[in-house]
Amino acid sequence: MSVAAIRIGAPATLDSLHLDHLPDCGDPGPGEIRVRLRASSLNFHDFAVVTGMLPAPAGRIPMSDGAGEVVAVGAGVSDCAPGDLVVSTFFTNWNDGTPPATAFTTVPGDGIDGYAREEIVAPAGWFTRVPKGYSAAEAATLTCAGLTAWRALFADGSVKPGSTVLVQGTGGVSIFALQFAKAAGARVIATSSSDAKLERLRAMGADETINYKDVPAWGVRTLELTGGAGVDCVVEIGGAGTLDQSMMATRVSGHVALIGVLAGFAGPVQTALLMAKNLRVQGLTVGSRAMQLDMIAGVEANGIRPVIDSHFPLADLAGAFRHQASGSHFGKIVVDI
Ligand SMILES: NC(=O)c1ccc[n+]([C@@H]2O[C@H](COP(=O)([O-])OP(=O)(O)OC[C@H]3O[C@@H](n4cnc5c(N)ncnc54)[C@H](OP(=O)(O)O)[C@@H]3O)[C@@H](O)[C@H]2O)c1
Repeated sequence: MSVAAIRIGAPATLDSLHLDHLPDCGDPGPGEIRVRLRASSLNFHDFAVVTGMLPAPAGRIPMSDGAGEVVAVGAGVSDCAPGDLVVSTFFTNWNDGTPPATAFTTVPGDGIDGYAREEIVAPAGWFTRVPKGYSAAEAATLTCAGLTAWRALFADGSVKPGSTVLVQGTGGVSIFALQFAKAAGARVIATSSSDAKLERLRAMGADETINYKDVPAWGVRTLELTGGAGVDCVVEIGGAGTLDQSMMATRVSGHVALIGVLAGFAGPVQTALLMAKNLRVQGLTVGSRAMQLDMIAGVEANGIRPVIDSHFPLADLAGAFRHQASGSHFGKIVVDI
């Protein structure tokens, strides 16, 4: 039976995304599983691929995140069985330890075909179990956004009860970071460009909120809110245009998790401030399979459920990305397959 999939056109634009039919996936070989994908979720990284901001060959199947049921397992696969729900890992070649230098060449939806499709046969190690009680849609939010937030706070950072964390905006990574930091007993300062979204952040447990459009010096405001000390950790999703305020917001010897590019890919850095505050600015790219398993255990232990803004059918992937581009979402946008 053929397998529906969405492919990127040439040039890559939302209008050139199109439906295709792949041949039947066949039976899984040794060490492989066949998965009936049920959901994916949107990340800015996927948006960059489908709009040509990140180069990918014409015909690439986009989407790094995928979750669904195992329908068959090959010889030697012991950690999942038909009927189990599984969720993809962002890197297909990073199990544990430090990231391999070639990591992005094997990222689904970027270096290789991704999960905007109904079925796949792939090595079992490209997937992990999902948190107990999660639907496929919920699980599909974890691969990129969830794991990035987890790594920033707990693998690279050392957030613990009593820590103070700043999260920026209300996209996928930041909402997970708010949820994870609160579950860990941290005090969270959250920013947004929208007062209505700030209200939702407070309802989710944000201790302090700042409208970053109304208060451009939100790093200075963060210092005031922390008695002049600054926060232990900033989840920095803006990049060049927000890094100065993030460094301003951070305490001496604090940690800036440099994650995103929403406010620019490159720009001048206040090196003197970085040095004077003895800051650690750590760039990161999602995380390893081992970190994903740690995150799943953390999600289960704390009963955390993702905040899903909206659902779109796979056939309307372009509509889902248009919704993301509008910036009106809060949390994750899911694609049902
Ligand atoms: N390095 C990595 O491993 C990694 C992994 C995941 C994501 N990322 C990056 O992290 C960023 C966020 O990704 P995402 O998938 O969470 O995106 P997203 O869901 O599309 O988030 C968009 C939201 O970010 C907020 N935002 C936009 N510009 C901002 C600014 N200048 N200051 C503060 N907030 C701003 C807005 O929130 P409001 O509407 O509330 O203002 C916007 O709604 C992207 O740059 C992405 O590439 C990197």
